[in-house]
Amino acid sequence: MKRKNAILRTPYTVRMCHWLMVVCFFFVAMSGLSWFFPSLSWLNSLLGGPQLARILHPFMGVLIFLFLAYLFMRLVRHNLPEPGDSKWFAEIGQVLKGDHNEELDTGKYNAGQKVLFWGIMGLISLLLISGVLIWRPYFAPLFSIPTIRIGLFLHALAGILLMLLVIGHIYLAFWVKGSVDAMSSGYVSRKWARTHHPRWYRQVTGKKDAP
Ligand code: HEM
Repeated sequence: MKRKNAILRTPYTVRMCHWLMVVCFFFVAMSGLSWFFPSLSWLNSLLGGPQLARILHPFMGVLIFLFLAYLFMRLVRHNLPEPGDSKWFAEIGQVLKGDHNEELDTGKYNAGQKVLFWGIMGLISLLLISGVLIWRPYFAPLFSIPTIRIGLFLHALAGILLMLLVIGHIYLAFWVKGSVDAMSSGYVSRKWARTHHPRWYRQVTGKKDAP
């Protein structure tokens, strides 16, 4: 995308953090799946085999949490619920058809993206807490067997839900043309900004409409 006339949507540090987190997420998710489904046990070779994967999985999980904590601090103010969000959900059919109702007047992130944001943040927190409960040899000995069992169940459940949410996130990122630019170059066209996030467009440009 030509930077002249484009608008910066995602600063470098946020993009860097997002992509480093995506790389870690890939390895952690693959090793997690390798333990969940025996037929996928070959996937742990991506992290150097069963023993190494078992050691690296929790450390990389903590890294993902730290990257997401940084994203949380940078993005939370744009993801707070607003009265207009319910209208976005009520008109989800039109939104999905690409029929942009100006009355929605979406800010930096739409209601669907906010759900994704809070879903990811909630599930990653649950993964961290349950992960600590079951982390041998460091923390698990501090807890009772029934607590560890609950931890294992919650960890597997949150892991699967997060993977499903991320699959939806990736699908929508490619489906809405121009979105990936927001996370790759960081810049979006004025037309994209005006169409998908008109209120944010006005806030960053201080304009009523494009020149
Ligand atoms: C190939 C994989 C991925 C792609 C292509 C992708 C793409 C994107 C894009 C384009 C955005 C910016 C949307 C916008 O500015 O309108 C974004 C935001 C975001 N992504 Fe990803 N993403 C991927 C994987 C992940 C993963 C694995 C996670 C977390 C586990 C994640 C978490 C987030 C979060 C938290 C945001 C901010 C959303 C918000 O503030 O509402 N992404 N992603």
